[in-house]
Amino acid sequence: MTITIFVPRDAAALALGAERVATAIAREIETRGLDARIVRNGSRGMHWLEPLVEVRTEKGRIAYGPVRPSDVPSLFEAGFLQGADHPLCRGRTKEIPFLARQTRLTFARCGVTDPLSLEDYRHYQGMKGLEKAVTMQPADIVQQVTDSGLRGRGGAGFPTGIKWKTVLDAPGAQKYIVCNADEGDSGTFADRMIMEGDPFVLIEGMAIAGLATGATKGFIYTRSEYPHAIETMTAAVEIARKAGILGPSVLGSGKAFDMEVRVGAGAYVCGEETALLNSLEGKRGIVRAKPPLPALQGFLGRPTVVNNVISLASVPVIMDRGAAFYRDFGMGRSRGTIPIQVAGNIKYGGLFETAFGLTLGEIVDDIGGGTASGRPVRAVQVGGPLGAYFPRALFDTPFDYEAFAAKDGLIGHAGITVFDDTVDMLKQARFAMEFCAVESCGKCTPCRIGSTRGVETADKIAQGIEPQKNRELLADLCNTMKFGSLCALGGFTPYPVLSAMNHFPEDFSPAPIAEAAE
Ligand SMILES: Cc1cc2nc3c(=O)[nH]c(=O)nc-3n(C[C@H](O)[C@H](O)[C@H](O)COP(=O)(O)O)c2cc1C
Ligand code: SF4
Repeated sequence: MTITIFVPRDAAALALGAERVATAIAREIETRGLDARIVRNGSRGMHWLEPLVEVRTEKGRIAYGPVRPSDVPSLFEAGFLQGADHPLCRGRTKEIPFLARQTRLTFARCGVTDPLSLEDYRHYQGMKGLEKAVTMQPADIVQQVTDSGLRGRGGAGFPTGIKWKTVLDAPGAQKYIVCNADEGDSGTFADRMIMEGDPFVLIEGMAIAGLATGATKGFIYTRSEYPHAIETMTAAVEIARKAGILGPSVLGSGKAFDMEVRVGAGAYVCGEETALLNSLEGKRGIVRAKPPLPALQGFLGRPTVVNNVISLASVPVIMDRGAAFYRDFGMGRSRGTIPIQVAGNIKYGGLFETAFGLTLGEIVDDIGGGTASGRPVRAVQVGGPLGAYFPRALFDTPFDYEAFAAKDGLIGHAGITVFDDTVDMLKQARFAMEFCAVESCGKCTPCRIGSTRGVETADKIAQGIEPQKNRELLADLCNTMKFGSLCALGGFTPYPVLSAMNHFPEDFSPAPIAEAAE
């Protein structure tokens, strides 16, 4: 029987040499005259083990990693095609603790299947949600999503069902579904992993959104820095269209929905939904004032759902297994699961999908294994570049939208970046202001001017120039940006700055000599 070997085609695995590993494996198969084939799967999300090669055996899938091309001959010598032991052997993939502890609903197939095989997709429960949706009334689909408690995974945590209802109820002959796949947050990669590892789940989710709201056209807006995601997504859309999943009659229902992939040049602000819509329309990516909401006047002024990749990719399982099934996971008003992306200075970095409710400490210390450097964890930034820095004293905060907000933080797109005790928090605060200055769309003054003044003020503190006065000035500036900015880029930049100042005040104290001169 032909043996199946899995070598990821995910960008993270490719960056670590997966292509050369696949070539080396193919060469060994040929020279040894073996009956084996290579499937290029997505990533399991265990980055420290990439490239993670798996072999399907009678005992289940056996994992080996991280594999370098030079390891390949010894793997064959050891008999890895039969799942034999080897220094790189990690045992049964699904029993690796990092995977075994997860609740994979949205990422159930990621790393398991061939991303472009519809057969695989269907074999692993794919398309069941859409099959149900085509038989339902739009309002019932919307109700099911509302009942599931799903909230937008792009950052703001807005209830997805309510957004869909607004679009469903909006008058208009033409409506749109726009998938926000810009994924600009540093340290986040969940959207990319879905697009590269299980693109049909996003297509299915978007088609369901179309049926639910009456939208017949969808766009996936992503960035040029994601070439592999673009390639896989584009190919998957083509396959889905040929299979009748997309087109004038979705799954033979007589209801139309089609989509295309659009690529932006990659500006952080183009992830903001209104700037995204401008970019999608071929205009400069500048933020639009709200109202009107995109749900009422979005793409080309028409009612538009703008949802994050993970929000949309979570819909198929909700339609398939039911609202109650999904809602049963989580805590408080944070229902279901969330793919946490653990990055930065961390021993076991990667994607960890789990029900809401784990504490930050559990994620960083137990699951992430502490820092890669082996030094103590000092700060964790949660929610991307606009997220707050949490000190160890706040590690008991559960992963929940409200719990983080109560501690002046945010979950955002669920990226967490870990820093050890060598981090300089004043530099991090300065970086937040600098990032905002570089990425600002320039539409409003608090963000455009405030961020530049913020960099200057942080520099003055670092130089010991009137430190007390400049600390107060920086806090005051943050206040102005927080309440005076038009969008969350200027409005949330104060989160990393103020959290750094409040939790790590010692880093904002000037050199003693300058203090004396004050
Ligand atoms: C500066 C800025 C950047 C953003 N970047 C992204 C992004 O890359 N991806 C995303 O889904 N949402 C991003 N958002 C949030 C979107 O504006 C919007 O809330 C989201 O796409 C809605 O989808 P959801 O309800 O499914 O989360 C960003 C917001 C701001 C202010
Ligand atoms: S806050 Fe910044 S990015 Fe947002 S609208 Fe104002 S200038 Fe543009």
